[in-house]
Formats: sequence, C-alpha cells, structure tokens
Amino acid sequence: MQFNSLLAITDLNRAQIDGLLDAALTRYLPRVKTFGFKDNDLKGLGVLLLFYEASTRTRVSFEYAGKMLGADTINVSAKGSSAEKGESLADTALTLAAMGFSITVIRHPGADGAALYAKYFPGAVLNAGAGRGQHPTQALLDCLSLKAAGKLEAGRRLAIVGDIKHSRVMRSGLQLLLSYGVDITLVAPPTLLPDDCHALQPEHWAAGAPGRITVETDLDRALPSLDAVMMLRMQRERMEGGLITTLDEYSKLYGLNQRRLKLLPPDAVILHPGPVNRGVEVSAPVYEDPRCLINEQVSCGVALRCALLAWCAGKLGVTGT
Ligand code: NCD
Repeated sequence: MQFNSLLAITDLNRAQIDGLLDAALTRYLPRVKTFGFKDNDLKGLGVLLLFYEASTRTRVSFEYAGKMLGADTINVSAKGSSAEKGESLADTALTLAAMGFSITVIRHPGADGAALYAKYFPGAVLNAGAGRGQHPTQALLDCLSLKAAGKLEAGRRLAIVGDIKHSRVMRSGLQLLLSYGVDITLVAPPTLLPDDCHALQPEHWAAGAPGRITVETDLDRALPSLDAVMMLRMQRERMEGGLITTLDEYSKLYGLNQRRLKLLPPDAVILHPGPVNRGVEVSAPVYEDPRCLINEQVSCGVALRCALLAWCAGKLGVTGT
C-alpha cells in the first residue's frame, strides 16, 4: 500500500491543499461538530502518535481523528520510552516499523526531527511540529478556520503577532497564507523577529496570487486595517535570555486586551493556535468576543486531521505527491 507523508507545508501542491481543506470543511467538520462519527477508511491500519514534546490539541485531535476513521492508535511519549535510554530516532523508526505501523504522527524538538524519522520509517510520516521548523497541520487548520469564516481570499490582511522568531506555527502558516494571496503583517518587538522576514516566503510554490509580507512593531497601528489577527504564544522554552524585558511589559505592548479589541474591525477574526498564556498574549475579554475563533480552531483541527489521515491512506480522492 502506498502512503502519503507530510513533513513541510511545501510538500503539498495547490490541488492537494484545496482537496484537504474542502474535505475537512464539508465532509468532516459537520460530523465533528455533532459529536463525532465512525467510518472504516483506516480500518486495520496502525497509527502511531510519537510525541517527544508536550501537546494537548495536536495529539488528542490526531488520536480522535484516527479512531473515528477506524484506525488502531497507539501513543508513545519520550518520557518512559527507550529514547530515555539513549535509543536514536533512526533506531526508534526501524523498531516501530518492524511492529507493522503504517502511519506515524511525530512531534520532535529538532527542526529536522520528522524528516530524519521519515528516512527510516517506510510508511507515512506526518509532522505534528518540529522544533522551530515546520508545523504544517497547524497551518492547514488555521487556513481551514479562516476559510470557514470567509477570510481565506487574495487581498485579505492578516497580522501574526508576538514571538515570530521561535514559531513553527508562523513558519508554515505564513507560507500557506501567502500562497492564497493573503497579505501578512508580522508584528513583534525587533528582538522577536527573524533576521530576514522576507526570506520566509518560499519561491515558486503552490502558485496563486502571492501575498506580501510587511513588518510592524506597533500593534495599535496594525489592528484597524486587519481582516484577521493571529496571536502567538511566548515560547519561553525556545528563547535565549534577554529578548523581552518582562512579560508584563510585553503584554502591555503586544497583548490583545479590552482596549485593543476596539481597534480591531467589527468583522475581523481572532486566532491563536493554543496553548494560550492568558493575560500575556491574550486577555480574558478576548474569549468572550464573538470574533474569537480560538475554540473553532480546535474543532477545525480535528476535522483537518481526519482529512489528512484519510489522504495519507489514499482515501480522499486527491492525487498524492
Ligand atoms: C503550537 C505548537 O506546539 O507549535 N501549538 C499547537 O500545536 N497547537 C504552538 C505553541 O506551542 O505555541
């Protein structure tokens, strides 16, 4: 059986991206929202959830999606696995392949962790977050949330706010959004921006109407012209010291709070991949705001991962890579 893998968002072409988003939106999201479903598209397949980093949303949504599609899902976390005894990622891949698993969903702290594992694992590998590198399934689910809200169109304006430098969500998300012609403003203090923001845009990929990247350090100035704002978590586990003064100071300058909600247009939407540091990048009133899609993103995450697992096993009718 031939399986499809997804390591970076640029592994997909336009038809595959559109096929995944359409299936997630029309086939799976309504069923997820009415408390799940059961079909047999993945019956008899073993799906391994190999998580070397913490996760709630990504791991649970992949597991639930796998179960709804009839797969046998098994969880392995770094803690308690042979990784603690020094086994290499290559040997782990060979060991798990020998057990007969068809699909591995992997989250790893190394930017090339998923790609390295895929060299040794003969089945499908889905990257569920690789260090400061790629997080393609998050990019797809964020685009799905925007599509469901009618905002995934050329010429729309979206700001990505906060810890841009360390964010794999931003890296994959920005590439995918630009390919739809969405214009992106990166909003952050200079210490949390990459050295060359324009180098983040891949050339000649997923042809469309490529959006533009602009950089802004003043959130108040960016908000009034936006269709969507994506807040990012402060990734302190990936940060060298001294990049921000204090979290309080950061929150004053870059947090989405009651006052800033008034600067955001009435029909704009608010995204955050989670987990949220309440009171740092997002304050409590944001959750009460009808423009907030943070929980909607979680539902979209399950639907998207259903579509992705079905695609992976060749059950979506969308051509493989
Ligand atoms: C993100 C991740 O792990 O990259 N969360 C997620 O997958 N929902 C974002 C983060 O950790 O800030």
